Amino acid sequence: MLHVNLIKAADPEEVGKLAADLFEALIRTKPACVIGLATGSTPLPLYRELIAREKAGKIDFTRVRSANLDEYKGLAPDHPQSYRRFMQENLFDHISIKPENTIVPDGLAEDVQAMCEAYERKIEAWGGVDLQLLGIGHDGHIGFNEPAGHFPGMTHEVELTAMTRDANKRFFASLDEVPTAAFTMGIGTVMAAKKIVMVVTGADKHDILMKSFFGPVTPEVPASILQFHPDVTVICDAAAWGE
Ligand code: GLP
Repeated sequence: MLHVNLIKAADPEEVGKLAADLFEALIRTKPACVIGLATGSTPLPLYRELIAREKAGKIDFTRVRSANLDEYKGLAPDHPQSYRRFMQENLFDHISIKPENTIVPDGLAEDVQAMCEAYERKIEAWGGVDLQLLGIGHDGHIGFNEPAGHFPGMTHEVELTAMTRDANKRFFASLDEVPTAAFTMGIGTVMAAKKIVMVVTGADKHDILMKSFFGPVTPEVPASILQFHPDVTVICDAAAWGE
């Protein structure tokens, strides 16, 4: 491991507060910053904390821009399980961020290549991501970058693995309804962020946490590439750490 800051918190709530500290520090020093956001259940305490901190007057999202990691292919923005809807309900609708300053890959894109390139260009035009939030899948996926023979570069379409579809079926009526493909920032997009914070909670994430940060760097464990990023902070709870 080259350079990863590992912070151990007591529980998911504390993970959320510590991660919120990083976002608060960034937004206070750079009000027009660009943040990269993630879905999943792990970031929820962080999002609740960010909402509370804006309400308390500690941070102000009016000039913040945000780019989300991924979206299911084939789901409309208002679909109950779309990641756009998830972000609206769990964060954007409760803070002062401007709608035009939030981007999520378009799940209904017909010209996939054009959509993915435009997504990259938008982030570049904003000056790049200052702080990227990540969760982690049980197979080490970040965004929807699944284990593969290589590290994908930029935003692209991916087939979801059986493991990921199975893990995410809890949000859908049945496994059949879980999309089989998604659009995701690439590993290159993620690695281009100036700073990265990964949140990891729960005993079920212990093995992949260890593999990712104390094992070899390999595209078979996509998150392991983070060992090569110069500014990564991993915030995990005691259960994920193995206590
Ligand atoms: C999904 C998302 C990932 C997320 C992962 C883990 O697959 N695409 O970005 O990190 O789920 O989710 P959770 O935090 O619910 O375990």
